[in-house]
Amino acid sequence: MNPSLADLTRRLGGIAYGGDYNPEQWPRETWAEDARLMRRAGVNLVTLGVFSWSRIQPRPGVRTWDLLDEVMDLLHRHGIAVDLATPTAAPPPWFTRMHPDARPVTASGTRLAQGSRQVFCPSSPAYARAADALVAELASRYADHPALALWHVHNEWGNHNALCYCDTSAGAFRAWLRDRYKTLDAVNEAWGTDFWSQRYGEWEEIDPPRDTTAFRNPGQELDYRRFSSDALLERHRAETALLRRAAPHIPVTTNLMGTLEKKVDGYAFAAECDAVSIDHYLPAADPGGHIDLALNADLARGMAAGRPWLLMEHSTSAVNWQPVNVAKRPGETRRNSLTHLARGADGLMFFQWRQSRAGAEKWHSAMLPHAGTDSRVFKEVTALGAELRSLREVAGTHVAGDVAVLFDWHSWWALELQARPSGEFRYLDAVRDWYEALWRLNVTCDVVAPGADLTSYRAVVAPGLYLLSGQDAGNLTRYVERGGHLAVGCFGGVVDAYDRVHPGAHPGALRETLGLVVDEYLPLRPDDEVRLEDGTGVRQWAERVESRGCRTVLGFADGPEGGPARGGPAVTRHDFGQGVGWYTAARLSADALLPVVRALCDEAGVTPAASTPPGVEAVRRVGGKGSYLFLINHTEDTVSVAVDGVGLADAEILEGEARVPPGGVVVVRESTPPGGCGTRRSSAPRGVLA
Ligand code: GLA
Repeated sequence: MNPSLADLTRRLGGIAYGGDYNPEQWPRETWAEDARLMRRAGVNLVTLGVFSWSRIQPRPGVRTWDLLDEVMDLLHRHGIAVDLATPTAAPPPWFTRMHPDARPVTASGTRLAQGSRQVFCPSSPAYARAADALVAELASRYADHPALALWHVHNEWGNHNALCYCDTSAGAFRAWLRDRYKTLDAVNEAWGTDFWSQRYGEWEEIDPPRDTTAFRNPGQELDYRRFSSDALLERHRAETALLRRAAPHIPVTTNLMGTLEKKVDGYAFAAECDAVSIDHYLPAADPGGHIDLALNADLARGMAAGRPWLLMEHSTSAVNWQPVNVAKRPGETRRNSLTHLARGADGLMFFQWRQSRAGAEKWHSAMLPHAGTDSRVFKEVTALGAELRSLREVAGTHVAGDVAVLFDWHSWWALELQARPSGEFRYLDAVRDWYEALWRLNVTCDVVAPGADLTSYRAVVAPGLYLLSGQDAGNLTRYVERGGHLAVGCFGGVVDAYDRVHPGAHPGALRETLGLVVDEYLPLRPDDEVRLEDGTGVRQWAERVESRGCRTVLGFADGPEGGPARGGPAVTRHDFGQGVGWYTAARLSADALLPVVRALCDEAGVTPAASTPPGVEAVRRVGGKGSYLFLINHTEDTVSVAVDGVGLADAEILEGEARVPPGGVVVVRESTPPGGCGTRRSSAPRGVLA
């Protein structure tokens, strides 16, 4: 059996805490101070070596390990464990000079230059050889080092270089297609190449979907995304195999990017890891950034198949890559960190330990900022480190969502290809609106793939699931037939895995389950708004739907010109098998989805994790050792919440009431967990539609 995250937290004696450590940016004298201050801050794990390639291998054929040797020993002497990275995310300048063809090429044919990071083509044999040789030596050198606790493969696979359009990639794409389709006829069929006379007669005629005169073939584009994700996955597998061979007792992870990037299929990479990690950065311009955080945490847990996971990077304050990089407010880092903990993280790490003096990220915050130890940030970091020690019993406990939110990279790719009915309809916006409605009800969700085992969920929601393979459609249909409650967002179930419209009327994959057909999709102009019967305004998207057995729960009041008739279905409900299929024939905001989601949850017997005032998030972690209720106050007032238990980490609980200050978080060790979210029951009571 492979080692796991539990092995790491057992070794650390609780929650992992620390960040990326880049000692190569600092003179040697600083390292001892770093180790001492890490201890003071409560750091027990650092990620080392992510960008060390040019130090380890300053010239071809020369390897110098002294820096890593010394820092590994130093950290070990200070009781700090190491998450040792394969330094393959930043090939050094000599490598690109020696192998200019290994640099990635854009869709318009520009070969990118050295001078940043991830300057390599994912399919380059020269890169693979150089990376594997380095990883093999790193693995054997440190396999038995006492500081080594976790392997960190690469860094954010595909963040900057996932899509390369060079000739090497073209050859690898053809090989991938041959492997997948076996015959050219099958490719032609999948891509619909009879359209615009694109039929291929030889494999060599197929290129990557480079910039061309007009719209590119959508099947080709979609498969290019799959191929590109797989090319990096192959690299991930190769590095992982080398690490496992040298040190089978050490768990392997890689820092995935959640919803931050759509370039690689997160589920595929997560399946190759012993421990699942994500990076999360708050979008500063988003007033609901904390909801984005919760969504990503729930996705990380979904990728980890419900097990605890690691937050590999977040920021102590501002980042440096958004249009305006807003500093975090006092208390915000603690609130963010404890929200990740509430949603199943067993480790809370930052980018990075010491703020850089030079280079592209010197304006990115760190645990130890330019202002030094007397700063607000360092004091908060140190207080958080101490607090996490007092919360260590939470590590290893689980969060179990009652509701599944389906999330799919393939649907994200397909929905946002060229020549769609509306460029305004963005995948993540749809996911976020549904998720936000559930978040506001304090319903804990697992964010999982459409092919996941759904049997334990009381309800399932499917936003933006434009692409739905026949197999996944079967999964959803069986779920409803057997008594599940499924809600499908507009423009869902439309195309198959190749972006071909499912035959017959829309939504071909789910017509029968939902008991309706879509007569026509009606995207709205940017300024248009139509109304529903309850006064709700709808922007962006409406549909003219006809019932084939479903009942209209909410109708349109006025449609777009020629659009749905007054009273025409906007929200529908259909009894199917032993379950229910809901559909929204309009792009509804989180506000508008709230009553829909409430009705879905009432009927499915979903209850909130706790009853709290609006703006107060409640999540529960449960395990052999106990049940822990996290209350996170996003409002500007102190709130009281009825609880049954004792407070951890200085929580104020008097006569069964927890007082949560503005922006604060309280953790309660519960005496008896109530039967809310996180404590899934075996049979769902049948409720009455609200
Ligand atoms: C990513 C990278 C880090 C750093 C941070 C900055 O997550 O993995 O190396 O660049 O972004 O936010």
